Amino acid sequence: MALDHRFLPSGISASLSRAIAHDLTETGISEVAMTVFGDPDVVPLWFGEGDLVTPEFVREAAAAALQAGETFYTWQRGLPELRAALSAYTERLYDGIDCAADRISVTTGGMQAILLCCQLLLDPGDNIVIVSPIWPNITSATRLMRGEPKYVALDRTKDGVWSLDVQKVFDAVDSRTRAIFVNSPGNPTGWTMTTDQQRALLDFARERGLWIMADEVYARLIYTRAVAPSFLEIARPDDALLVLNSFSKPWAMTGWRIGWLTHPAALGDQLAKLVQINTSGLPAFLQRGAIAALEKGDFFVEQMVERCRAGGELVFQRLSANPRVTIARPEAAFYNFFSVDGVDDTMAFCKKLAQDYKVGLAPGEAFAAGGQGNIRLCFASGAERLSKGLDRIEAAIKAL
Ligand SMILES: Cc1ncc(COP(=O)(O)O)c(C=O)c1O
Repeated sequence: MALDHRFLPSGISASLSRAIAHDLTETGISEVAMTVFGDPDVVPLWFGEGDLVTPEFVREAAAAALQAGETFYTWQRGLPELRAALSAYTERLYDGIDCAADRISVTTGGMQAILLCCQLLLDPGDNIVIVSPIWPNITSATRLMRGEPKYVALDRTKDGVWSLDVQKVFDAVDSRTRAIFVNSPGNPTGWTMTTDQQRALLDFARERGLWIMADEVYARLIYTRAVAPSFLEIARPDDALLVLNSFSKPWAMTGWRIGWLTHPAALGDQLAKLVQINTSGLPAFLQRGAIAALEKGDFFVEQMVERCRAGGELVFQRLSANPRVTIARPEAAFYNFFSVDGVDDTMAFCKKLAQDYKVGLAPGEAFAAGGQGNIRLCFASGAERLSKGLDRIEAAIKAL
């Protein structure tokens, strides 16, 4: 859906830049959500967040810093203490790797990390090869920079298991390709790339002079191992690799807007300039909360994984019992991406679910190639909210 011009005085919309007026489309998720915006009766399972408030020790650390007067302009790339904590955290998580603080820049959420990457890499007409189905915002960021997203869809077995044919990624690359974007574990599928596939991609990217943008915001939310394989484990510090991450998902900090980018040290100055133009950095007191999450928050991440494991299982058990539903257990992240026999237009179905049944889900069309015909449900919430949502989904399917 294009920008809604109804709210603009006449004459203004004509003078907006081409990107704003024409290229900046609403994501399909927002398109559904806007139909019932602000309705407190809707059970919200459409966005990538659950119902837990950020843990108290994190909030307290931020509040204490605010009380202590940490209210001034601060470092563009993040407090040195936070960057040091991120370096220590990364080296702890991926045993034996070397990830110095000069390779880390703090960003305004994973979202801004994505946009910074696009700003760094893209000239108009360049393209990014994107493994899909994929969360829509990389598409929007690419388009905003006048770039072109080129999708390579995952394959899916009849049982709903997703897999990647890496050769398809290689084949999609052309002379205007600047980067390959891989989100593993993936939103919305939970698909997780193996270390062998990462190696193959890295070798190819080195050979062809391409960047890899690795979105690893769900690295901790995996149900089959302690942490998902990371490009950081196999790459050299100066490889053309940008790994983006976020505090949002593992520590329930979606509203804080804090993420980070791991990059070659040589990009640091360039990133500082870009951050200055975009946001001029993050409030220092929020960064104190992020340090607490890194240093004292492992127990919370473990609780989060167990909560999501239980939520995913509840959704799987309920929906797989319905003969019209095709659903698999995801390996990671916190989404079920299922289809319903008889529902082809998932945008229309999700709008109906929101308006008539008061449950918010995201339509598959929003997630680019390979997403069509599926519906995404975020299971990061507790059993009470999920059960209420499932009752309503089942009622809607029954009425089909
Ligand atoms: C795959 C993926 N990448 C990045 C983000 C950005 O997260 P945030 O901007 O909240 O840090 C999200 C959020 O939903 C996501 O799903």
